[in-house]
Amino acid sequence: ADEHYYDFVLRESNFTRLCETKSLLTVNDSFPGPVITVHRGDTAYVNVHNHGDYGVTIHWHGVKQPGNPWSDGPEYITQCPIEPGNNFTYMVIFSTEEGTLWWHAHSDWTRSSVHGAIIILPPEGSSYPYPEPDGQQVFVLASWYKGDVNEEVDYDLETGQDTPRSDAYTINGQPGDFCNCSRESTVHWYVDYGKTYLIRLVNGVMNVEMFFAIGQHNLTVVGMDGSYLKPFVSTFVVLSPGQTIDLLVTANQPLGSYYVASRQYNTVRPDVDDYDHANATAIMQYNGNYTPSGAPIFPSTLPIYDDFVRALNFTSRLRSLASLEHPINVPMNITTRMYITASMNNVDFSNGTYTEVGLASSLNNVSWLNPSTDVLMAYYRNISGVYTNDFPDWPPTFYDFTAEDVDGAYNLAVQGARVKVLEYNEQVEVVFQGTNVLDASEDHPMHMHGYGFYVVGSGYGNFDNETNPKDYNLVDPPEVNTVPVPKKGWAAIRFTASNPGVWFWHCHFDRHLSWGMDTVFIVKNGGTPNTTMRDPPSFMPTCKSSLRL
Ligand code: C2O
Ligand code: CU
Repeated sequence: ADEHYYDFVLRESNFTRLCETKSLLTVNDSFPGPVITVHRGDTAYVNVHNHGDYGVTIHWHGVKQPGNPWSDGPEYITQCPIEPGNNFTYMVIFSTEEGTLWWHAHSDWTRSSVHGAIIILPPEGSSYPYPEPDGQQVFVLASWYKGDVNEEVDYDLETGQDTPRSDAYTINGQPGDFCNCSRESTVHWYVDYGKTYLIRLVNGVMNVEMFFAIGQHNLTVVGMDGSYLKPFVSTFVVLSPGQTIDLLVTANQPLGSYYVASRQYNTVRPDVDDYDHANATAIMQYNGNYTPSGAPIFPSTLPIYDDFVRALNFTSRLRSLASLEHPINVPMNITTRMYITASMNNVDFSNGTYTEVGLASSLNNVSWLNPSTDVLMAYYRNISGVYTNDFPDWPPTFYDFTAEDVDGAYNLAVQGARVKVLEYNEQVEVVFQGTNVLDASEDHPMHMHGYGFYVVGSGYGNFDNETNPKDYNLVDPPEVNTVPVPKKGWAAIRFTASNPGVWFWHCHFDRHLSWGMDTVFIVKNGGTPNTTMRDPPSFMPTCKSSLRL
């Protein structure tokens, strides 16, 4: 296994999109940021120098980091922010992941501009479980905001209001031909006729699941979230924020140019109001001598924003490769079973001086509130008063979660830093249930740090403990780090608690993340050196004393 060294310099620089120039915090002046490339089992040391104006942390999304939560990144969960003028070196330990993952800032909404792809190649000397591609191409989807997103979000959160919509989506930093002032800068991807390419696709969008397709070209899906899938052919893919998909595409169409297009999939509110800005595009362009025949061909197979039938059909085709070389290990003897409702809520923000009820979101009616020092250090040093061990395993009441008019009495959540503690090696099943409280159901891409988990089932309506488990896929369920819990539906997952540490768990829509649809799992040590969490490096950042909400 090799070691790799990277320097990430965070600083503000100017970017022009949609006819306007603004200052944006990025890594090494690039949007999206640099690609990290390793082989499975390697370790990367990433020295993050904060030359920006506010505290930032970086998370290595989907990298399990065995025993090493100290480098996982979520602010106030595993570390304090790296303050301006300071630096911090993350030790990113790659273990079982293979495929594509990504890194992103994990503080406020900074991840909108601070993110990039991670490529994890098979171990040196071994090969992909599919024919070696002739080339590869990374496509990172992201949100573009004309304004300063953190300023807007902070204001909205303080006043209990909804958060800003983005002004466009981007593919590798560019909105593409259909957006104002964007034609010149559209990303071009050049291909040779007859060759097969591996596309590494990352959804780094802030609040929306995305469809993706290429004009006239079939996509063969071979991997997701850094683990292999049984290959299948599709004319489009759908992925939620946090998810990554690996695709094979053969350039077998007439020489010409074809749109690579991504469009919002959102069952509640299109995140981009301006329809012309709802499609981000790049251009797949064949090399060679030919006369271009007009505009690139747009993928007619790209679903429209509320086509949840096709979205679900795609998701139901995901199966682990589950081969001899890439076996899976689904827990069969469950020792901890949890049932977690994901809701939009009202929360009483009243304090001594003012009365205020505002928007929040919750898991089992607990709306997560970051403590003022990180949970991991409090756990490690036994500091009391930072969090409590009482995240509930069940919702406080059972009712018709997905009914049209859920009683307002179910609206109030309580705020707190309430964590779930698991013994080492417990076999855990969690059923996530989306609710329609406040008539505000939507998909929730639930993401767990430190782990991959198996999605053994999902469906619409209320989970039924009698019938639904009978249909679980325990043979070849996909292993992922993010699962979209369907709107007014449920998703069941399983994992073995074999990675000791403190691990954040949250909806990957940043609106819901900042409103509290989060919790923390603490997995205890196993009692042998190999099953014990590492000690912290001596140079962990410390938290400013001010209380942060
Ligand atoms: Cu992709 Cu907690 O993050
Ligand atoms: Cu959500």
